[in-house]
Amino acid sequence: MMAKKLFIQTLGCAMNVRDSEHIIAELKDKDNYELTNEMSEADLILINTCSVREKPVHKLFSEVGAFEKAKKNDAKIGVCGCTASHLGSEIFKRAPYVDFVLGARNVSKISTAIKTPKFISTDINYDESDYAFGEFRGSPYKSHINISIGCDKKCTYCIVPHTRGDEISIPANLIVKEAQRAAQSGASEIFLLGQNVNNYGKRFSNAHEKMDFSDLLVRLSEIDGIERIRFTSPHPLHMDDKFLEIFANNPKICKSMHMPLQSGNTKVLREMKRGYTKEWFLDRAQKLRSLCPDVSISTDIIVAFPGESDEEFEDTMDVIEKVRFEQIFSFKYSPRPLTKAAEFANQVPENIASTRLTHLQNRHNEILDEIVATQNGKIHEVYFEELRANGGVAGRSFNNFLVQVQGSEELLGKTLKVRIDNPKRMVLYGKLV
Ligand code: 5AD
Ligand code: SF4
Repeated sequence: MMAKKLFIQTLGCAMNVRDSEHIIAELKDKDNYELTNEMSEADLILINTCSVREKPVHKLFSEVGAFEKAKKNDAKIGVCGCTASHLGSEIFKRAPYVDFVLGARNVSKISTAIKTPKFISTDINYDESDYAFGEFRGSPYKSHINISIGCDKKCTYCIVPHTRGDEISIPANLIVKEAQRAAQSGASEIFLLGQNVNNYGKRFSNAHEKMDFSDLLVRLSEIDGIERIRFTSPHPLHMDDKFLEIFANNPKICKSMHMPLQSGNTKVLREMKRGYTKEWFLDRAQKLRSLCPDVSISTDIIVAFPGESDEEFEDTMDVIEKVRFEQIFSFKYSPRPLTKAAEFANQVPENIASTRLTHLQNRHNEILDEIVATQNGKIHEVYFEELRANGGVAGRSFNNFLVQVQGSEELLGKTLKVRIDNPKRMVLYGKLV
């Protein structure tokens, strides 16, 4: 029988990217689908959605509207992921041509969803933690692996606990097996995913040996063929000394750390329910830089959280001066349904939010230019994974800089030394040594 064609669009975070890979694997194995990049020739069109801010939610409805117009006559449209969880049957009301709605954490039901008219499943605590998904990877060179699902934190701005439910860890033996399979197929980098990875081991669905995130990292680093281990996202609150020391000393753990700050002001952090202070964050970042001088640190920042004053915002600027992050993802606060902060008085006006965001991004760019300039002449070990325009080949340094050289396919999948001779903000250009 001829394979049916699947088009899938993924919005949002790395968890969603992995959920899409799981969906593709299920549909290939059980229903004989193959991927297409052409929406108009697809028999099944999926959009895997994000609801972390308002923008991606709007995007969902504009995208499905466009799908409806351009799709093949009998093609089905399914809405998956976080917005599916939070809007549920509302999606059928706003877009009646949608055939099914499948929430985050319900991915294993995809094969049923496509066969059931107006199927809807949005149980945010559905337990798929020991479901053995089939194999599909977007890249032959690295493997994304989920280590936990959901999030137990109750950050007052965040919708994710309402779309991905309570935190549950995936059994270590399944994670190890997946990493071994990746290594055997030549993907020597693994990328561990969870909403709060360094809280790993807090809760399993069945009896399970006690294991925390640091232990899991050590266990995975013992697998032959795995050369690089990355993970996202850790929580600053759980960055204890044991974790930072293993991070710094294990030669397979890539030296880039995501430390989502959100705000540099202790009062705002308390209102966000982040569980740490400005001083704790600075102490952890400084400890990390001293244990691991090559580390690059990235962060997430929300400006104009309800009630944030100019002085409180200055604390965020102060942390930026002190930590000198290599990368910042910054956002204006966006009130989300189901969250506490959406109810707070003192929502900050849009123009002030914009001014703060611009100020922060400009200052970060200046700092970044200084950091990037120091890269000139440095030698990095680069794992090549991507062909770029005009004969470029790119990959990541061990500390996560994007590095590009002139070259061809032969470089892909290899780790080679590169001397940087033209460092730019987004890409460090160099030559093989
Ligand atoms: N408004 C703005 N940004 C948000 N984030 C999460 N919730 C919101 C919100 N309501 C940001 C946080 C988080 C990142 C994934 O998205 O910085 O770390
Ligand atoms: Fe978006 Fe958060 Fe869901 Fe990821 S977990 S898709 S960032 S809402």
